[in-house]
Amino acid sequence: MTEDKEPIVRNVHLVYVMALVVGTIIQFSDEIEFSVDMSKTGLTQVPKDLPPKTKVLDMSQNDISELYMSNISFLTGLKVLILSHNRIQHLDFSVFEFNQDLEYLDLSHNQLWKVSCYPVANLKHLDLSFNDFDALPICKEFGNLMQLNFLGLSAKKLQQLDLLPIAHLHLSYILLDLEGYYVKENEIESLQIPNTKKLHLVFHPNHLFSVQVNISVNTLEFLELSNIKLNDENCQVLINILSELTRGPNLLNFTLNHVETTWKCLVIIFQFLWPRPVEYLSIYNLTIIEDIREEKFMYSKTALKALKIEHVTNRVFIFSKNALYRVFSEMNIMMLTISDTRFIHMLCPEKQSTFKFLNFTQNVFTDSIFENCFTLARLETLILQKNGLKDLFKVSLMTKDMPSLEILDISWNSLEFNSHEENCTWVESIVVLNLSTNMLTESVFRCLPLRVTVLDLHSNRIKSIPKQIEKLEALQELNVAFNYLTDLPGCGTFTRLSVLVIDHNSISLPSSDFFSSCQSVRSMKAGNNPFQCSCKLRDFIKNIGQVSSEVVEDWPESFECAYPESYRGTPLQDFHISQLSCNTTLLIVTIGVTMLVLVVTMIFICVYLDLPWYLRMVCQWTRTRHRARNIPIEKLQKTFKFHAFISYSEHDSDWVKNELLPNLEKDDIQICLHERNFVAGKSIIENIINCIEKSYKSIFVLSPNFVQSEWCHYELYFAHHKLFLDGSDNLILILLEPISRNSIPGKYHKLKALMAQRTYLEWPTEKSKRALFWANIRAAFNVELTLVPENNDVET
Ligand SMILES: *[C@@H]1O[C@H](CO)[C@@H](O)[C@H](O)[C@H]1NC(C)=O
Ligand SMILES: *[C@@H]1O[C@H](CO)[C@@H](O)[C@H](O)[C@H]1NC(C)=O
Repeated sequence: MTEDKEPIVRNVHLVYVMALVVGTIIQFSDEIEFSVDMSKTGLTQVPKDLPPKTKVLDMSQNDISELYMSNISFLTGLKVLILSHNRIQHLDFSVFEFNQDLEYLDLSHNQLWKVSCYPVANLKHLDLSFNDFDALPICKEFGNLMQLNFLGLSAKKLQQLDLLPIAHLHLSYILLDLEGYYVKENEIESLQIPNTKKLHLVFHPNHLFSVQVNISVNTLEFLELSNIKLNDENCQVLINILSELTRGPNLLNFTLNHVETTWKCLVIIFQFLWPRPVEYLSIYNLTIIEDIREEKFMYSKTALKALKIEHVTNRVFIFSKNALYRVFSEMNIMMLTISDTRFIHMLCPEKQSTFKFLNFTQNVFTDSIFENCFTLARLETLILQKNGLKDLFKVSLMTKDMPSLEILDISWNSLEFNSHEENCTWVESIVVLNLSTNMLTESVFRCLPLRVTVLDLHSNRIKSIPKQIEKLEALQELNVAFNYLTDLPGCGTFTRLSVLVIDHNSISLPSSDFFSSCQSVRSMKAGNNPFQCSCKLRDFIKNIGQVSSEVVEDWPESFECAYPESYRGTPLQDFHISQLSCNTTLLIVTIGVTMLVLVVTMIFICVYLDLPWYLRMVCQWTRTRHRARNIPIEKLQKTFKFHAFISYSEHDSDWVKNELLPNLEKDDIQICLHERNFVAGKSIIENIINCIEKSYKSIFVLSPNFVQSEWCHYELYFAHHKLFLDGSDNLILILLEPISRNSIPGKYHKLKALMAQRTYLEWPTEKSKRALFWANIRAAFNVELTLVPENNDVET
C-alpha cells in the first residue's frame, strides 16, 4: 500500500513545484508588460494593441493629436501616462473615467488650448505646462485632487483669482510656464500662488524680462526662475518680482537658469540677495553681455552659505581682471563654486577670507593661482580640477600658506614633477590629495604631503613605486589604477595602507608576498592586469583565493590570464597548474624515487624470482616451436629410428636415468642410449655414429664431468657435424651443472662456441621451475614423426 502511495505523493509535490516555477515566470513576464515604451516611434494615434495590464505607458515625442476614451479605457491598471511632446489640442478629462488608478499624467509640450473638466481622483502629478492655453487651465474639479503633488501649468494671461479653486491644496511643486505670457498695458494684477514648497517660473527665452503681475506666495522653500533676459533698464523688474517672492523666511534655495545679463545687473541681483534669508544661490548657464566695469559691492552680513555658478559665457572680451574677479574673491561666504567658464584667474582675497570651500572646476587657471596668498587661512577644500596647472612644485608652494587645507583636488590637469633641487613645500594639513589624470611619473613620490591619508594617482604615467621614498605613514587609501606599474607595492613604506586600487596596470607576475607584507589592507582592486599564468603566479592566486571574498573587490571576474597565448582569457580562478610541474626539486625527487623503486623491483624479480632464466627458457621454447614448424615435411619423412640420442658423462648417468629418461619416455619419446642400443661387434665410434644417424635429435647433458670425458667430445663433434650436413638444428644442450668457460680445454672449441651462443637449457635446481624445463624439451619433439621400428639388421 505505502509503496503505491509514495510515487503519487511525490508527483503531487512535483506538480506543486512546477506550478510555483511557472507562476513566477508568468509574474515576471507580467512585470515587463506593465511598462510600455512607445516614445519616438512616429505614432499619430494611440496604438490599438496595447497590453491591457499596462501600468506605465510612455508615448512621448510622437505625433498624436487626439486621445479618446475608447483608446485607453481598457487599461484599467494604468498608473503613469506620458504624452509630452505631441500635438494634442483638446483634452476631455473624462477620457480617464475608467483609469481610476491614474497617478501621473504628463501632457507638457503639446498644443492644448482647452480642457474639459472631470475629476480624476488619484492624480498626484499633473503636467499641463508648455501648451497654448490662454488663461491658466484650472477646473474647479482640480480642487478635489487631494493627493496632487506636482502641478505644471502654462498661460498667456494671469489673473488674480485664477488659482483660487486649488488654493487649499498642499502642493510641493508648481511649475508655471509663462513663455507665451504677454504684458497687458497698464493692467497691474497680482497672482496669489497656493502653498507650495517649490515654485518654478519659466519665462520667454528671447524676450526681455517683463512681468506686470505681483506674484506672491507664502511658504516657499525653493524658487527657480528660468529664461531671464536682463539689461540695465529692466533689471529693476526682476528685483521687484524677487522682492515679493523672497519675502518668506523659509526661502533657502534660489536657482536661476539661463540668465543673460549685464555685469552691472548681476551685481545688483547679488547685492539684493545678500541680506535675504537665501542660503544657497545657484546660477546655471549665465551669459554676461555689454561690458564689465568695476561695481561697488557692499559685503554686508549675509545668510548666504554657498554660491554656485556653472557654465558662464562671457561676451565681453576686454575688461579689467579686478572688476570681474574682485567681486567673487571678497565674498564673505563659506562656499564658492565657479565652474565651466573661460575665467583665467581668481584673485587672492584682500583680507582674511571666510572661504572654506572653493570649487573652480573646468576653468583655465594656471600655476600662478593663489601664489603667495596668505588670506585663505580657513580654506579646507580646494578643487582645481580640469584647469591648466602644469607644475606640481608650484602647486605645493601655493598650499604652503593655506594652513587649514585638507582636501585638494587637482585632477585632470597637465601636472608634471621634474626633479627640483628644492623639496616640495606642501602644507602638512592635507589629508586627501587627488592627482588623478595628470602626467606624473614615479618622481611624484618625492613630492607628496607627508600626512596624506587618501592619495589618488590614477591615470598617470607611473612605472614603479620607489622603495626609497619618505614614509607616508598616514596613507590609508592609494589609487594607482590606470598607470604602467609592473608589480604590487610592498607595504614597508605605507604601514597603514588599507585600500589599494591598482587595476588596469601592466602587472604580469605580482609578487605573492604582497598579502603578507600588507596585513592591514582591507579592500583592494587589482584586476584587468595582463597576468602571466605560470608557476610563479600560483602562490599569488592561492593567496588571493584565501583573502578574496571581502578584500579583493574585483575578484574573480576581472582577473584573467593574458599570457601565455594558450591560456589567454582563462579566468585566474580556473587556472590550475600542479605542484609537481612547478617545483624542480620535487620533480627530481619524484623521478629519483620512481627510478629507485623500479630498480629495486627489477633486482628483486631477477634475484629472487630468477626472471632472466624464465625469459631465456620461454624464448628458447618459442624458438624451438617455431623452427619445428618450419622444417619441410620431406626432411622429416626421412627414416628415423629414434627421437633422440643422449650423450652424457658416466658421472651424470644417475640424473639421466632417474630424471631425463623417465620424463622423455613418459611422452613416448624413443631414446637411443649407447649402452642399451649398442650393436655388438661394431666399434664404439661406429655405434655412436650409428645412434646419432638414426636419431632425429641429439641431447647432450653438459656438466664439468662432460667436459672431462673424451667420448662425449667425440659424440658432440659427430652430432655437430651431422648438423652441418643436414642443415637442420638438431642439437639439444642441457646444462646440468654450470661450467666455467676456462675449465673447457682449448681444443674443444666446438663446445666453447656452442656455450658462447648460450643456446642450452639450464637444469633448474628449484623444483618449481622444472615444469617449464620439460616443456622446453618436449617442444623440440613436437613433430609428427614416423619411426621405423628398430631392426639391427637393416643397415644404412
Ligand atoms: C481611438 O478612439 C477613436 C474614437 O473611439 C476611434 O475612432 C479610433 O479608431 C481609436 N483608435 C484606436 C487606435 O483604437
Ligand atoms: C579624484 O578625482 C576624480 C575625478 O577627477 C574622481 O573620479 C575621483 O573619485 C577622485 N578621487 C578621490 C579620492 O576623491
